[in-house]
Amino acid sequence: MDKLNFAIVGCGRIAERHAEQIARLATLTAVCDINEERANKFGDKYGCKVYYSIEELLLNEKDIDVVSICSPNGLHAEQSIKVFRAGFHVLCEKPMAITVFDCGEMIKEAERANKRLFIVKQNRYNPPIQAVKEVLDENRLGKVFSIQLNCFWNRNPEYYTQSEWKGTKNLDGGTLFTQFSHFIDLLYWLFGDVKNVEAATRNFMHDQIIDFEDAGVVIVEFYNGIIGTINYNVNSYAKNMEGSLTIFGESGTVKIGGQYLNELEYQNIKDYKITNLPAGNPPNNYGQYVGSMSNHNRVYENVIEVLVNQGIIATNGFEGLKTVEIIDKIYTAANKRN
Ligand SMILES: NC(=O)c1ccc[n+]([C@@H]2O[C@H](COP(=O)([O-])OP(=O)(O)OC[C@H]3O[C@@H](n4cnc5c(N)ncnc54)[C@H](O)[C@@H]3O)[C@@H](O)[C@H]2O)c1
Repeated sequence: MDKLNFAIVGCGRIAERHAEQIARLATLTAVCDINEERANKFGDKYGCKVYYSIEELLLNEKDIDVVSICSPNGLHAEQSIKVFRAGFHVLCEKPMAITVFDCGEMIKEAERANKRLFIVKQNRYNPPIQAVKEVLDENRLGKVFSIQLNCFWNRNPEYYTQSEWKGTKNLDGGTLFTQFSHFIDLLYWLFGDVKNVEAATRNFMHDQIIDFEDAGVVIVEFYNGIIGTINYNVNSYAKNMEGSLTIFGESGTVKIGGQYLNELEYQNIKDYKITNLPAGNPPNNYGQYVGSMSNHNRVYENVIEVLVNQGIIATNGFEGLKTVEIIDKIYTAANKRN
């Protein structure tokens, strides 16, 4: 079979990771960005067609297989829906959208168009996460009682002031959407759906800079009885400090840590030891700030496996919706308190 044809919508930072993988595994047919300079840069680098609006791209390009949505969070839903209506598959960056309603509409349109919806959640591929998922699936920790998720990163004022959309309510949505939706996805993936939350949020260091919280503490209660806490902020002094998940089960305790859930920091499991973890990829490094582990290679390999070999989607629209629903529950609980 010929290589799949991709288009990218939004030629910013993360689009670089997408373009690299498309160039490796498929064909980058076209890109679009409302910022002409950014779109042209991609066009020059990858020798693809350039458009300055998604409408123009969808009107002119008929041989695309997949459109990768790399635009600000608040545009993911309307742009994905346009792509489905044009008859193409969608690979959507995280978070899937910033409202539960929008996620539902995206799933509905994908079904109507009979096209596939892939969500980027590349942290699932971090080697310690994969190992712990296996340990949980094999029931090696016995009954899991409680968990602790810590997300302690740094985002300085310039991170927001230099961006057209980060920190805005309507295009970013909140710190849990842009910085920590990967982490919330992992809770859902490892422990299932969340029943109840209690939460308190504050903006301590980014007053007048962002429209929402820069810190939050959350109590979570899962449907299966597990209880846990999430302590998150972007105020860790001067640099990212920690992204960690600790799991307490009846026959084992495990802590995945490092700055972005990239190291197995502690394990004490009855009659078992996780060994030979592969090194894993480095984080996405944007110069001024550092993000999650760069596993877009695995994301694209999955898209191609699904579309070419009838594989199974690594993160589908339903799971993307669940992450947004959990974040929505947290913000709703916090708003009641504020
Ligand atoms: N998976 C990850 O680890 C990861 C990492 C970073 C960002 N992201 C996600 O990727 C998305 C983009 O983030 P970024 O950091 O690359 O942002 P960015 O600001 O660097 O890039 C976004 C681009 O979209 C363009 N854009 C805005 N409106 C548009 C429109 N209507 N049509 C077409 N293009 C438009 C902007 O001009 C900009 O070039 C966000 O949803 C973000 O949450 C994911």
